[in-house]
Amino acid sequence: VQESLILGIETSCDETAAAIVRNGKEILSNIVNSQIDIHQQFGGVVPEVASRKHIENIAGVVHRAFSEAQLAYSAIDAVAVTNRPGLVGALLVGVSFAKAFAYALEKPLIAVNHLHGHIYANFLEHRDIEFPAICLVVSGGHTSLLLMSNPNKMEVLGETRDDAAGEAFDKVARFLGLGYPGGPAIQEAATKGKAGQLQLPRVFLDRNDFEFSFSGLKTAAMNQWNKLQRRGQANVFDMAAEFQAALVEVLVEKSIKAAAKYQVRTIMMAGGVAANQELRNLMKKRTKEAGLKLFYPSLKLCTDNAAMVAANAHYHYGNRSFAPLSLNAYPSLLS
Ligand code: KG4
Repeated sequence: VQESLILGIETSCDETAAAIVRNGKEILSNIVNSQIDIHQQFGGVVPEVASRKHIENIAGVVHRAFSEAQLAYSAIDAVAVTNRPGLVGALLVGVSFAKAFAYALEKPLIAVNHLHGHIYANFLEHRDIEFPAICLVVSGGHTSLLLMSNPNKMEVLGETRDDAAGEAFDKVARFLGLGYPGGPAIQEAATKGKAGQLQLPRVFLDRNDFEFSFSGLKTAAMNQWNKLQRRGQANVFDMAAEFQAALVEVLVEKSIKAAAKYQVRTIMMAGGVAANQELRNLMKKRTKEAGLKLFYPSLKLCTDNAAMVAANAHYHYGNRSFAPLSLNAYPSLLS
């Protein structure tokens, strides 16, 4: 693959991020400006507020990416930007900025699928990933199992029918009064409780496909919580532990089943929920038992960042797969 020095830009949700990456592997700078503090006040991401914050921050974040990498703007080979999926108003800020930047510098523009970006975060830290691989992408907006035959080819095996894994964490955490973002809050509460003290369903675990559903789990958790509260038996720590266990078990067992079905020896995890310690632990245990290799990014590269965007763009650059200056942003779309 061709040598590349790429500026990545990411504004799909509530992080304004820019990074410069060499050859899809070497991070020269990775700036993430999180808006979590602002959205915390509302208990979740407010799309218009996110867009406005991106508008304020984007130029400064890109500038910092260049100064930390000690590079002139003209040193880069291409400008890559997440253009799908995500909050459209938020994506448009990154897309507009990237277009203007690429146009002014006369460099090619590369469009990146946010989910592919999450997966490519693995390539920034691991050199020994073997293909084919099963990828479990679990974030605030998505839950998908993919079969990756090589760095350029991915096929969706299954997705969530309703809520994404991270969304379920966030909604249940809000319901339990644990705050936002819900994943880390539930993980923390679960360490003080015990799974199995109450029972929640492992939704779709018995099915032979690779679809997921977390809305039913969320509703079951809410109903049980209300019932336990009426009886004066509600323990938020046990509820957090059982909810996390129910969700994680389904993610892990489906991934292992997919590896067996497609005779794959490697599993990769990606996305914000891949930061979950219980998910990492159970996946480690089950892949070891099954003789599979497991990869996941460090905590910093699991959640939204632009290094992953530049890492994915490296492969588009090699294929000369460039985007026109009429590029648009899209709320959903997998490929
Ligand atoms: O990948 P990400 O930063 O943004 C999206 O692309 O969606 O993922 C954010 C999601 C949130 O739903 C958050 O609650 C979840 O990832 N998350 C976690 C953990 N850390 C972040 N979920 C479970 N356990 C965690 N430790």
